Amino acid sequence: MTIDTPTALLGGLSPRVFMRRHWQKKPLLIRQAISAADLAVDRAGLFELASHEGVESRLIERRGADWKLRHGPFTRRQLPPLSRADWTLLVQGVDMHAPQVHELLSRFRFAPDVRLDDVMVSFATDGGGVGPHFDSYDVFLLQVAGKREWRIGRTKNMDIVPDMPLKILAHFDPEHIWTLEPGDMLYLPPRWAHDGVARGECMTASVGFRAASRGEVGTSVLQRMLDAAEDPCETPLYRDPNQPATDQPARIPPALAAFAADAVRRFLEEPRSMDCALGEWLSEPKPQVWFDARGALGERGALALDRRSRMIYDDHHVFINGESFVASGRDAVLMRALADRRALDLASVLKLSSPAWELVQSWADQGWLHAVPDEV
Ligand code: SIN
Ligand code: CO
Repeated sequence: MTIDTPTALLGGLSPRVFMRRHWQKKPLLIRQAISAADLAVDRAGLFELASHEGVESRLIERRGADWKLRHGPFTRRQLPPLSRADWTLLVQGVDMHAPQVHELLSRFRFAPDVRLDDVMVSFATDGGGVGPHFDSYDVFLLQVAGKREWRIGRTKNMDIVPDMPLKILAHFDPEHIWTLEPGDMLYLPPRWAHDGVARGECMTASVGFRAASRGEVGTSVLQRMLDAAEDPCETPLYRDPNQPATDQPARIPPALAAFAADAVRRFLEEPRSMDCALGEWLSEPKPQVWFDARGALGERGALALDRRSRMIYDDHHVFINGESFVASGRDAVLMRALADRRALDLASVLKLSSPAWELVQSWADQGWLHAVPDEV
């Protein structure tokens, strides 16, 4: 499939047209975006995941106009009975644990990987939901099982109900009401208010995106640049052989201020170091992610990235799980193919230079990628 191929996932639009017309602009309701057979998430599996430390889960119960929020992990007994209405369990990062959910996320790779965040899956009993709210990020809300009624509208008034554990909009004025059935999907741009209420037992998967604020990206990149900067003791000292005698000894010498401005400018003018810092930061795995080191690769063979690995690139580097490597020539082409396809066939692996193959082996040692059967 190419970005110009119309797809059922986007209601018959091609990814290119969807991005132009809807992305960050306006909602899209898609009937039968995904066939029910591909929605392999079950309630028991979700409850099991929610019992694990290191898996972020929340339980939300509505009691009239009141809301209660608890954080997991939850044993099955800590969850309310299925016969009780008005509760929902939300499990974050399900794609990290379930290969079939990771596959679902990969269908959204018409947007850059660095914008994809995770798949959250919710289970709700009749009447369950999280109340009218808005999110700051783009989201695809995919109905996995049962029915959910969605009310959506532009956020005109951002006031939230005071003293609630959740951000519930005080004024919500829906423009559309749609009931989603298994396989249906709703795309919402950031800040569109929405309220999804389960009609009977229901499961919904939210394919969520992420976007950094200017302040966050600025401080994170600068912090990494500072960490990587040369030892300050090794850089030239301020010199002032022309400093005249002064009768204002407390005044900062203008030449020292200029020296400081020059130091900051030199630091920022290092484009490669800014690119490195950005790529390392963007490819950093989430804090709760861990890899199973599975040992050496042995012979050269086809490879696939572990589903938890983040691998991205720019014109001069490849980045994987917070580390950067300078790449050029044929190795760069092959590494970029590995990042884009998340796999490399045997013929391509055989073309890697010895240093690149050694690097790949060290990634395999850390569990970042694995040997797989060659598909061609
Ligand atoms: C849910 O799945 O209940 C909540 C999803 C959302 O509103 O973002
Ligand atoms: Co939401």
